[in-house]
Order: sequence, then C-alpha cells, then structure tokens
Amino acid sequence: MKETSPVPQINVKKCTGCGLCAEVCPVFILELRAKKAAVVEALRELCNNCGHCGAVCPVGAIAQKAREEKGFSPRKGGLIDAETLQFFLRRRRSIRLYKKQPVSRETVAKIIEAGRFAPTGGNRQGVHYLVLDAPAQIAELGDMCTAFLEKGVKIAGHRYSQALLARLGSREMAASLGRYATLYRIFQERRQRGEDRLLYHAPVVILVHASRWDTSSAFNCAVALYSAALQTHALGLGTCFNGFLQVSANLSPKVKRFLGIPRGHLCYGTMTLGYPRVSFKRLVKRAPAKVKYLSA
Ligand SMILES: Cc1cc2nc3c(=O)[nH]c(=O)nc-3n(C[C@H](O)[C@H](O)[C@H](O)COP(=O)(O)O)c2cc1C
Repeated sequence: MKETSPVPQINVKKCTGCGLCAEVCPVFILELRAKKAAVVEALRELCNNCGHCGAVCPVGAIAQKAREEKGFSPRKGGLIDAETLQFFLRRRRSIRLYKKQPVSRETVAKIIEAGRFAPTGGNRQGVHYLVLDAPAQIAELGDMCTAFLEKGVKIAGHRYSQALLARLGSREMAASLGRYATLYRIFQERRQRGEDRLLYHAPVVILVHASRWDTSSAFNCAVALYSAALQTHALGLGTCFNGFLQVSANLSPKVKRFLGIPRGHLCYGTMTLGYPRVSFKRLVKRAPAKVKYLSA
C-alpha cells in the first residue's frame, strides 16, 4: 500500500448525496455525512485508486486524476452484443502460421493497451510486458529454450521418471509429460530442417511477468495476456500461447537472465503473435463445461 494513497476529491456542491459512490467502493473509504459523500479519513490509505466512485457518480461530483476516456461516451462506446462476443470468442484459434510481415510497435502498443485495462487483484496493476520483435533475438531465445527443454524432456521421458510419477499417483501428469517428450522429439527433428515449432517463426513474442509474492499475479497476468490476445485477433492478427517458453523462462536461469526477468518475479504467460497466413473456416468442438452447483 502506498504511504499517501490518492483519495477521491469530492465536489460537495455537485454531490446529490445519492450514496452510490460509497456503495460501489470496495474498500469502505467513502460514506455519507450530512447527506454528502465524504472520505473516511481513518481508512484513506485503503484507497486502491480503482476509480469506481468517480466513474459511477451520476453528476460527476468526484474528480479523478487523469481519467482516460477520450472519445468515450456511455451511450456510444464499450458495449458489444452477447452473440457477437460469443462468436468472437468461439472463432479465436491459436495461430501457429505467421507471415514474415513485421508487426509495428504501434500495433503492439494497441495490443498491450487491452491488457492494461484487465482487472488485477486489489487493482495492483503489477503486470509487466516483455516484448521481443527483433528476429535475431527471437531466434536466440528459441535456441536457448530448445537447449534447456532438451534436458528436461530427456528426464521427463525417461522410463524411471515416468514410473516414479505414476507411482506418486500423478498418472495423468506422467502421461502428459510423456506426450510432451514425444512432441518435443518431433520439434527437434523439424528444427534440423529449419522449422521453428517452438516459436513458430513469429515476428513478435510477448511475455508477462509479475511479483511472485502476489497471490493474484498468475491470474492477473493470464487475464491481461488473454485480453491482449483477443485485441490482437480483433486487429486481424493471430496469437498462440506458449507453455514451453513459459517453463523455460521460469526454470532456466540462462533464459531468465537473457530476458531480464527480475528476481522475485515469475513469468505467468507468453504468446507469439503475428499476421496469420491461415484462416479457419469452421468452428471447433470443445468438451462440455464441467459445471456443478453446490446446492441441489
Ligand atoms: C497455457 C497454455 C499454454 C500453451 N502452450 C502452447 C505451446 O507451447 N505451443 C503451442 O503450439 N500451443 C500452445 N498452447 C495452445 C493450445 O494448444 C491451444 O489453446 C489448444 O490446443 C486449443 O486450441 P485453440 O486455442 O485454437 O482453441 C497453449 C495454450 C495455453 C492456454
């Protein structure tokens, strides 16, 4: 928590005393006093600057520093019909075939902007984005990950490790690692032929990292990266999340150093992106959601 948290500035002349600001505040720093909104001074340090009070006020009585709503109006912006959203989500496919065409930094900025507005635990906004867009650097990263994964896959694929994992009760994990070992061997064969099945010759790679002490970091990063991915697809580009890279960034000191991920941070998600050279004509089938209501 910051020492002096920014608290909302209330214009009491404008305030109608409707109390909505106090109701939406997640940290109890607003109350009604003499039918006007007022800051609870004893709790001011709890303000996490979420901006809800100012955004909900019907008469604009709460000033927010640098409100970011250029070109926005509640009537014209920010709504999407449910069916369009559903099909947009269902149409998104992982894209592993990219054109050589570079992606401008302006486009990458738009993509990251979508991540910036994703929710974060306590509004801490601690997601860091690391972008690689130089082909030589991406190739170097690919080489480092390949070298690291090779060792890991050998261990995971070994029959002793498999037997140990299965005995420890993680049969599914053993089977999954076994499959990855097979997959990885094919990656390697393809690599000899100049095919990059790890990073897919992508023109851009993005990683998200955040403090490992923050229990929200994994979710914050995942949501931010998925939001960025959806924005990418809306811009006509494609993405593919990359677990191999994520594992390498966290478990290989060499890769972590190369990427400059600070100590105390973990990488919680990565994706490749670029202009797709494939388009999917049909939707795909997915398993039914595993849903259970706790009450009958
Ligand atoms: C956490 C995570 C890690 C992934 N890692 C990889 C990866 O390393 N390589 C890859 O080709 N695809 C990877 N994917 C993509 C999945 O294979 C893909 O999402 C899945 O097959 C479903 O296809 P769809 O994204 O087109 O719906 C990953 C996806 C997620 C969510």
